[in-house]
Amino acid sequence: MAYKHDQLEPIDEHHVRGKFASRLGFVLAAVGSAVGLGNIWRFPYVMGENGGAAFVLVYLACVAFVAMPVLLVEFAIGRRGQTSAVSSFRVIAPGRKWWLNGLLGVITAFVILSFYSAVAGWVLNYFVKGVTAGFGDYTADNSATRFLSLIDGVSTPLIYQFLAMLITGLIIFFGIENGIERISKLFMPLLFAILLLLIIRAVTLEGAGAGVAFMFQPDFGDVNLRTVLSALGLAFFSLSVGMGAMITYASYVSKDVHLGKTAVTVAGLDTLVALVAGLAIFPAVFAFNMEPGAGPALIFITLPQIFAQMPLGAIVGPTFFLLIFIAALTSMISILEPIVTYLVDDLNIRRHAATALSVVAVYLAGIPACLGADAGGKLGHIKLPFLGKEFGILDYMAEMSNILLLLGGLVSCLFVLIAWNKRDVLAEVAGTRGNAHSPMLRVWYVLAVTLAPLGIVAILLSSLGLF
Ligand code: PHE
Repeated sequence: MAYKHDQLEPIDEHHVRGKFASRLGFVLAAVGSAVGLGNIWRFPYVMGENGGAAFVLVYLACVAFVAMPVLLVEFAIGRRGQTSAVSSFRVIAPGRKWWLNGLLGVITAFVILSFYSAVAGWVLNYFVKGVTAGFGDYTADNSATRFLSLIDGVSTPLIYQFLAMLITGLIIFFGIENGIERISKLFMPLLFAILLLLIIRAVTLEGAGAGVAFMFQPDFGDVNLRTVLSALGLAFFSLSVGMGAMITYASYVSKDVHLGKTAVTVAGLDTLVALVAGLAIFPAVFAFNMEPGAGPALIFITLPQIFAQMPLGAIVGPTFFLLIFIAALTSMISILEPIVTYLVDDLNIRRHAATALSVVAVYLAGIPACLGADAGGKLGHIKLPFLGKEFGILDYMAEMSNILLLLGGLVSCLFVLIAWNKRDVLAEVAGTRGNAHSPMLRVWYVLAVTLAPLGIVAILLSSLGLF
């Protein structure tokens, strides 16, 4: 068997695992995973619906005390395992059933990608529309009808969903260093630059101040248990934790990287983008007297009308959708990669075949979500019961993913508490060059094995209506 350079690793594709070439590459890939539709599409509208600044404070607490500790738990499991999310649990706790949590993650990845790719397809469609025809003739009378005619259609949304999956698959096809790392290094700086330009445009509009105030003046009258559940669910979704995406990425990182510092950087940047994405949107919404609580349709129905009226709107419009598509794409690759890594590491399928297989499988799984996105869609009449409410297929997938992520995160925390020795955990988190005895790491450990799992259990029980 041939060997590559002087490494004792065979060249055979079955055995050589890829690797991030640099810490920066890993950080940018993880930030790329975290920053996505969750930040730019979901966060602003959930915040809009839940009273603005009060929600932001609840969200920040959820990130700092629960989601970020879980992110670090996942980083540690992945890097220690150096294999798929499923097998990483096996490496650390051989002969036990914890690996089932990795498998749950693979299933969750399917659930998330099925609706995520549908929405990413709409974004891509709006980007193409913005470039070709522009949003100049979008008004209060026709904006909603236009959006609905897209998502209630059959071939157009399905084609765009396929394109989104195809581009995702193409990046995964090239592997960790040449695919994921390269794209992240290119797209993440671009994303930050575009976001900055969009914010400057929004806050310099006349009447933008009310939008900024909406984001920064808390009104706790609107905060209830439901708010906390949506904040925690969103924090998990936004930090990409609970399904093995971060376990998988960390399995490709070298041993000298300090995972604790990386987790703080990733969580910090992700939260920053969620907040400033609001700054690119709400000042404009208020400047044009629109409704901030418009829900999921905020970016597709409200914003095009704003682009039609604002100075430079013809450039700002398509740029905005390009921004969202880039953010969605770097997240989609991180949801697909755990599936591909599982097929390669556990089932011994070659990377290229595994990529093709998973793209097709996920696409097929995504068709019902795409056609059942709205009551007027082909499968829009199908309503599925979930936690005492009825949802269309796409919303059902989204609601279900919230619970699945919380469940996956909970089990990973319990895994660290029960099945993994504390000294090893801290050493893994610090990396070969870090200090495993630092007080910060100890604080994290306590959060990860106490507050985080307790908080998740409380939220899960309350969402099931048990208290
Ligand atoms: N974090 C991504 C977002 O905010 C979504 C995601 C969830 C990615 C779970 C990977 C895993 O859009």
